[in-house]
Amino acid sequence: MLVLGAFVIPSLGLGASLQIQITPKVSGDNLQPASFRYQTSAGETFSITRLSYLVSDFALQRNDGSWLELSNSVAWLDFDANRNSIRLEKVPAGEFCSVRFLVGLNPNLNHADIAGFPAGHPLNPSLNGLHWSWQGGYIFLALEGLWRNAAGQLDGWAYHLARDLNATRITLAAPLLITNQTKLELDFDLATLLNAPRPLSFRQDGSSTHSRPGDPVAATLVANLPGAFRVRRIVQLSATEIAIAQPPPLYLPAKFTPYEFQMSATFPLPNLPRDNPLLVERVALGKTLFFDKQISINNAQSCADCHLSEKAFADNRRTARGAQGEIGPRNTMPLFNLAWKREFFWDGRAKNLREQVLQPIQNPIEMHQSLTNLVFKLVSTGLRPVVSGVASETVGAHSPQSLSDEPARPSVTPPSGATPDGTGGTPVLPQKSDYPALFATAFGSPEITPEKISLALENYLLTLTSFNAKFDRVQRGEEKFTAEEQRGFELFSTEYDPRRGQFGADCFHCHGGSLFQSQSFANNGLDLAFKDLGREQVTGKTADRGKFSVPSLRNVALTAPYMHDGRFATLAEVIEHYSTGLQRSATLDPNLAKHPDGGVPLSAADQRALVAFLNTLTDAKFEVGAAR
Ligand code: HEC
Ligand code: HEC
Repeated sequence: MLVLGAFVIPSLGLGASLQIQITPKVSGDNLQPASFRYQTSAGETFSITRLSYLVSDFALQRNDGSWLELSNSVAWLDFDANRNSIRLEKVPAGEFCSVRFLVGLNPNLNHADIAGFPAGHPLNPSLNGLHWSWQGGYIFLALEGLWRNAAGQLDGWAYHLARDLNATRITLAAPLLITNQTKLELDFDLATLLNAPRPLSFRQDGSSTHSRPGDPVAATLVANLPGAFRVRRIVQLSATEIAIAQPPPLYLPAKFTPYEFQMSATFPLPNLPRDNPLLVERVALGKTLFFDKQISINNAQSCADCHLSEKAFADNRRTARGAQGEIGPRNTMPLFNLAWKREFFWDGRAKNLREQVLQPIQNPIEMHQSLTNLVFKLVSTGLRPVVSGVASETVGAHSPQSLSDEPARPSVTPPSGATPDGTGGTPVLPQKSDYPALFATAFGSPEITPEKISLALENYLLTLTSFNAKFDRVQRGEEKFTAEEQRGFELFSTEYDPRRGQFGADCFHCHGGSLFQSQSFANNGLDLAFKDLGREQVTGKTADRGKFSVPSLRNVALTAPYMHDGRFATLAEVIEHYSTGLQRSATLDPNLAKHPDGGVPLSAADQRALVAFLNTLTDAKFEVGAAR
């Protein structure tokens, strides 16, 4: 039996286990995301696009009335991520009559140091996307969607239940005979949550809440929550143990130096691949490959020619230009803090970096190189490059600083005649390639394979971490914001909710947290009709049309032009977009759709303040090319 999407509490021995699965329902039927089939009791038609929440502090009641607390039980459940259950291990066998848990967290957990949660832990903010960042604590329940307002227009709604006082206890009678493996299936009815006993109407009660003290919407949600859960059935499972296979490290050399991964103490712990541990030797090889033009078909382009280390590894082109001059459809993405990402590219089509890095190599409008050909070139003795005048300049700018004692390999210039791709050029005398030796140090044997190339590049990319901007120094109390930057930060991290006296620019919902990035995809209102379908191309769902990966705003001053197609030349233009340019298509994110037409109204001075704040996110290391 496999528990999909659940956080597995490590099993310390053989004990009985209880799996609790919670299925979101609406009036008894399975939730249909993004479908306008629902109505509030005030008759407003609405859809639900996001349900993400935290449950914790599970306890079981014995027949004598006493409670067995299952300590450290916490789960992040999310409809989109297909996470719907929690598995409780080492539960003593026996009979129980009720189960209880919190929707939300107790104050200790809610205010725990987020940097202490390992990758994959349900409270790791980069996993769950529910942390309030600078405001402290988590959103316990995020429920969002769109609704049709009185004028028939699409509007967003976003109910975010947070703050200690709103953690809500659910107690359900459940006659459990816990023997070996038992599964308790619960339903969570969102119609009840929005309607009973207290009905909510987006028009009358407001289409958003952030649970500030005294907020009536939050109070209604808290009142409705206990009735929204019910027991569907109890299942006794087979005794099959769940093996949590940890993949062993791939190709570990006999001698290696572990690489010291650097990050900010305020970052959540990243999910580093266990089968590709960071080794100084492997990082060095990855870096050499990253800066080597042989990676492209005509030896004209390295990864670093699009990902410039002095531009936070982006370029300043609207859209990328390939080795043979072709112009691609998308803006080059900057490369840093990739260790916290789970999906790569603007549309998230690559699930991990090692899969990602092989794509630009083979992409016909990028490096256009077959992997067989690449391996041949790297192995071949005849292909040690001659560095020409033009290229030695490039070597100056991009030459790899090998972290090992192995000789670094320079970027290269046009090819010898010996390539199987038939590109001509002056034949060079066969010379020994450095690569087999570099692969041997990094992987324990000199064979070069596409897999090893991808593992080395993955190692290198994971080491590009950015965490030392003025913003970080201000957070650490080492520097001070100017008044304008401070105003920008307030706008950035405050919601726009006039009904409750909040007039911020509401950026933190998507770009919040210490990484300035939610690991998600959103439509930020660029278009009404989409030339590039974005996320829909990957998922096939129309509900994902026009959604793109939410970019980190760290180093954003270095990465103009902006957006997946590079349509905005300056940050001022970006802010103007969020203030006056929002396009209301069907998939516009509810957190933006809830704003007035056009976007959050911002004065010219406030727009400048936001730009000033964004300029404090630049890490000098990523500006001078030192971050390699
Ligand atoms: C022709 C320019 C170009 C070259 C060469 C290039 N890239 Fe990229 N890179 C891009 C573009 C454009 C994107 C976004 C593409 C998309 O979303 O479809 C991107 C995206 C990425 C991403 C995803 C980042 C994220 O946050 O999701 C990584 C990682 C990356 N490139 C690494 C590499 C590596 C490694 C190489 C060399 C093997 C390389 N790139 C070569 C232009 C280039
Ligand atoms: C609903 C989520 C959401 C909200 C709220 C939001 N953004 Fe974005 N932002 C995105 C997405 C998604 C993109 C990328 C869109 C694309 O390229 O198609 C983006 C792109 C950007 C970019 C361009 C970054 C780059 O590297 O190209 C900047 C700058 C930016 N946002 C700033 C802001 C500011 C400032 C605010 C508040 C006024 C804000 N965003 C509010 C989702 C959001």
